[in-house]
Amino acid sequence: MNIMGIIASQQREGNTAFIVNKLLEGARENGAQTQSFCFSDLDIKPCRGCWACHKNDQGCVIKDDMQKIYNAMEYTDIIILGLPIYMGQMSAQGKIFTDRLFAQRSPRFSPFFKDNAVKRQIVLSFNQGNPNADLFKPYIDYTSQMFKTLEFEVKEIPVVTGLRSGSIYDRKDLCRDLKKIGSGLVVPDKNPAA
Ligand SMILES: Cc1cc2nc3c(=O)[nH]c(=O)nc-3n(C[C@H](O)[C@H](O)[C@H](O)COP(=O)(O)O)c2cc1C
Repeated sequence: MNIMGIIASQQREGNTAFIVNKLLEGARENGAQTQSFCFSDLDIKPCRGCWACHKNDQGCVIKDDMQKIYNAMEYTDIIILGLPIYMGQMSAQGKIFTDRLFAQRSPRFSPFFKDNAVKRQIVLSFNQGNPNADLFKPYIDYTSQMFKTLEFEVKEIPVVTGLRSGSIYDRKDLCRDLKKIGSGLVVPDKNPAA
C-alpha cells in the first residue's frame, strides 16, 4: 500500500511536518510504503484559471513541481494532506495545492477526466494554535465537503489543537495518537506475494 504525505507549510521542521511525519511513521510501521512532499522544497505556482486542462487531455499546462505530485498521486492509495490553520483557513500552500487539483480531479466538469473519476482516499490533517477544537469546525466540515466534490473519499480528519503553547516535540500522547491513526490507514494486502 502506498501512502503519500503533503506538508502544506513552508516550515520543514514545523508542526505540520511533525504531524504528517508521525502519521506516515505509523503507516510505515504497519507495512505501508510512504513518501512525502513539503512545500519548503517545492516550486508550485497558483492555478492560472486558464481552463486549458479542461479543453483537452494535456493536464495542467503549468510545468512546475506540481507535476511531481500529479505523478506520485497516480500510484498512491491514500494522500495525507497536512494543513496548518492560518487566519482561520488552510494555509496558502494548501489552497494552491487544492486549486491545482482542478486540472485532474473535477470529472463533473471535464470529459477528459474519466480515468480520474476513480475515487481516491485522503486524510485532511489540520492543526492550529488555538486550543478550542470546535473553533474551525464549520470551515473544516466545508473543506471536507469540497474534497468530496473532487471525488475524494475523506478517510480521517485529525485536528491537532493548542500548538501556540509549548513544543509539539514534548507531546508524547500526540505522537502515540498520530502513529495509531497512521497505522489504522493501512489495509492488509489481499494478495501478498508468496
Ligand atoms: C500566519 C499565521 C496565521 C495563523 N492563524 C491562526 C489562526 O487563525 N488560528 C489558530 O488557531 N492558529 C493560527 N496560527 C497558528 C498555526 O496554526 C500553528 O502554529 C500551526 O501549527 C503552524 O504550523 P507550521 O509550523 O507548519 O507552520 C497561525 C500561524 C501563522 C504563522
